[in-house]
Amino acid sequence: MNQPVRHQTPTLLSDYRPYPFTLRQTRLDVRLDPKETVVLAELDLTRRDTGDLVLDIGAGVDLRSISIDGRKLSSADYRREEEVLSISAPDGDFTLSTEVVIDPSANTAFEGLYLSNGIFCTQCEAEGFRHITPYPDRPDVMAPFEVTIRSDLPVLLSNGNPVSSADGVAVWHDPWPKPAYLFALVAGDLRAVSGDFTTKSGRHVDLNVWVRPGDEPRADYALDSLIRSMKWDEDTYGREYDLDVFNIVAVDDFNMGAMENKGLNIFNSKLVLATPETATDNDYERIEGVIAHEYFHNWTGNRITCRDWFQLCLKEGLTVFRDQQFTADMRSAAVKRIQDVRTLRARQFREDQGPLAHPVRPESYVEINNFYTATVYEKGAEVIGMLKRLVGEEGYAKALDLYFDRHDGDAATIEDWLKVFEDATGRDLTQFKRWYSDAGTPELTMAEHWDGDAGRLRLEFTQSTPPTPGQDEKPPRVIPVEIGLLSHNGDEVLPSTVLEMTEATQSFNFDNLSSRPVVSVLRGFSAPVVLKRDIDSAGLAFLLAHDTDPFARWEAGRQLARQTLRAMIGGQRPDSEYIDAFGRILADGDADPAFRALCLELPSEEEIAVAIAAEGATPDPDAIHTAREDLAAAIANAHEGDLKQVFNDMKLSGAYRPDAESAGKRSLRLAALSLLNRIDGGAGAADLYASTDNMTERAAALSMLVSAGVAESQIHSFYTEFRHIRLVMDMWFMIQTISAEPDRAVAVAQELAAHSDFDWKNPNRFRALIGGLSANHAGFHRADGAGYAFLADWLIRMDGANPQIAARMSTAFESWTRYDPTRQSHAKAALDRILETPNLSKNLGEMITRIRNAS
Ligand code: TRP
Ligand code: ZN
Repeated sequence: MNQPVRHQTPTLLSDYRPYPFTLRQTRLDVRLDPKETVVLAELDLTRRDTGDLVLDIGAGVDLRSISIDGRKLSSADYRREEEVLSISAPDGDFTLSTEVVIDPSANTAFEGLYLSNGIFCTQCEAEGFRHITPYPDRPDVMAPFEVTIRSDLPVLLSNGNPVSSADGVAVWHDPWPKPAYLFALVAGDLRAVSGDFTTKSGRHVDLNVWVRPGDEPRADYALDSLIRSMKWDEDTYGREYDLDVFNIVAVDDFNMGAMENKGLNIFNSKLVLATPETATDNDYERIEGVIAHEYFHNWTGNRITCRDWFQLCLKEGLTVFRDQQFTADMRSAAVKRIQDVRTLRARQFREDQGPLAHPVRPESYVEINNFYTATVYEKGAEVIGMLKRLVGEEGYAKALDLYFDRHDGDAATIEDWLKVFEDATGRDLTQFKRWYSDAGTPELTMAEHWDGDAGRLRLEFTQSTPPTPGQDEKPPRVIPVEIGLLSHNGDEVLPSTVLEMTEATQSFNFDNLSSRPVVSVLRGFSAPVVLKRDIDSAGLAFLLAHDTDPFARWEAGRQLARQTLRAMIGGQRPDSEYIDAFGRILADGDADPAFRALCLELPSEEEIAVAIAAEGATPDPDAIHTAREDLAAAIANAHEGDLKQVFNDMKLSGAYRPDAESAGKRSLRLAALSLLNRIDGGAGAADLYASTDNMTERAAALSMLVSAGVAESQIHSFYTEFRHIRLVMDMWFMIQTISAEPDRAVAVAQELAAHSDFDWKNPNRFRALIGGLSANHAGFHRADGAGYAFLADWLIRMDGANPQIAARMSTAFESWTRYDPTRQSHAKAALDRILETPNLSKNLGEMITRIRNAS
């Protein structure tokens, strides 16, 4: 049963009603002050239907006056209750004016208008605008904005194009009708790193990346990524930018990665600032990807937005899909695909297995911020990848052209999206739509039947999806299964082909085969499913060596590693088939280093736990950790010479460059060192730490030393060297918790939480320490429950300041029911303690209630 947490009234997709007024124009006048910011709003409205004018208004908004067409309303003309303002409004056209006062300095939730290190900034998605001014704060109400900002601060920014700027007053005009969640305002002492771009139809666009004074040398890569994104969207999707300026601002306090506000993207500074000495290869790749993501939203999200928040995947799934394509083009498509599947499995499959499982398009929510999930984003992108595979490149291009053409300026739905594919390609997508409505990860089983006399191979597939909260029955879905057939010398007998599965059980025949081929299945990870097939170690080793599809090749090695680890957890010795196959990849100098590095990486402890849980067994975190360490040591002992050779061969000369090829070499080099680290007591890592000139190797070496338990002096010197660089200090907190030996992790986290640099209200710092511990699988899931208790303490504390962050970090509990009864009872106690906390936010309340109700 539901625990009694306040504000748990759900919003339902089926309750959608159009807004009964049209908003023709929004004018804002904002007089900035840290404690008393005055916001005047004028909304030009037209009545379309009966009823009161209902506006959203945040609890902290102090309403000073309301008038309609210049006539001040008395308290009898309106009602304010909870977070809504109901006004009796006239027919026809009228203008509503409001005056409110808000306090940005008190805003620790970082939603609405707030201060970050002296910079005024805003975050309005999903429902933050109501904390700035009373408004129809829903994505289907769109208007052009005119914004006047009054402040003594030197840089005053808002959406759209600048109109004028003088004497502490700046005016901005955004001609493109937009919903309130895309509004942004920034003011502060900022410096621009500038560039420009001319669109293919000749529009000149000024580009600025705004940072704090002194940070200018760290913004070049972000600007360069932006320029490449603008060009790519023109070349690939035919999408041009539509304003005279594009501004990006980096701020230190930010709840997520970045935000696509029209013409004024706001970024977590972690996703803008980078130098070789302070950022890792992974940071550079993320900066490039997120700059692209936010830029691509200009069309998929802004020009075409969502009718309501249930349609979130319409913009997020598609924009993730587009940024994945971009990264694939900028770097290596094979490597990008493998990385994406790796995170999908560790995060989205895990979500699907537990109490938080929900469809790509949910049908009910209490707090929409809790649905910015791996399912909506990453599985949402997978669903588009499947669509593309089913209709082909050309069909996809036609459908997307139609989508932009038909829906430009609309607040659209998933139905609209699927209809353009149906109209452009003639396909019926009724069954396909289940990918949007049905939660859970399907299991796909493949059985092979070989008839040697007839030269026929029959592949029989079976699909089924386990029940998820509120959904017991899952009818079969359309599953594109990409396969290839290989001969025993590795030649392709049948090149990649997409089989379309639509039934619960279905067979496909392949005739005229002279001998039994080896089946390469789920190439490119053609569908987000768990594949089960009967294949022995030798078969997997063959595919790892010979598969012509790089994803399937990597996957064969990964499956071999998982099977080996499973057997080791059961007490067996490491599989020599795996150790030998590993050696062949290690020695394969012809393969791309980044790809080799991925093949040499062992599955994470989380991924192993997900795989064990998927088979209905109970993962033992300590046994998983031990098995993984033992396997790494066995590999290192077997291949010590080759690992050292690779480590030396992959050393780069000359200045650091962040490009994919250099990053790939470094990642292979570090993969080798991390295995050697298991048998050399940290000696190699200590040498690298002392000699390297870049943060990629520095941070990796530190993390190896921490996991070997020999990092004391380097932890100290790292701190001394970087204590004034926030983003690097985040790494310092993160590395120590995420890489700590499991039995020490909680103690380390407790100690660090008492450190004077643990500024817990800063989301990055909180994520580094608290998220670092939660991601230390065996450390967090300690049998005595100390990890759970520590997390509960901090979630309760954070909830009082920043409910979004508390709710997000609570997902560490989402897998609690898959462990043994002792761990479950400790987790349950921690969850109950959170639920009993007075004044729990709607955010954390919804999350913990859903998680707790799992059993
Ligand atoms: N729309 C943003 C993106 O995916 C993410 C986002 C949603 C966000 N809500 C937020 C960012 C709150 C910061 C804070 O690009
Ligand atoms: Zn997005």
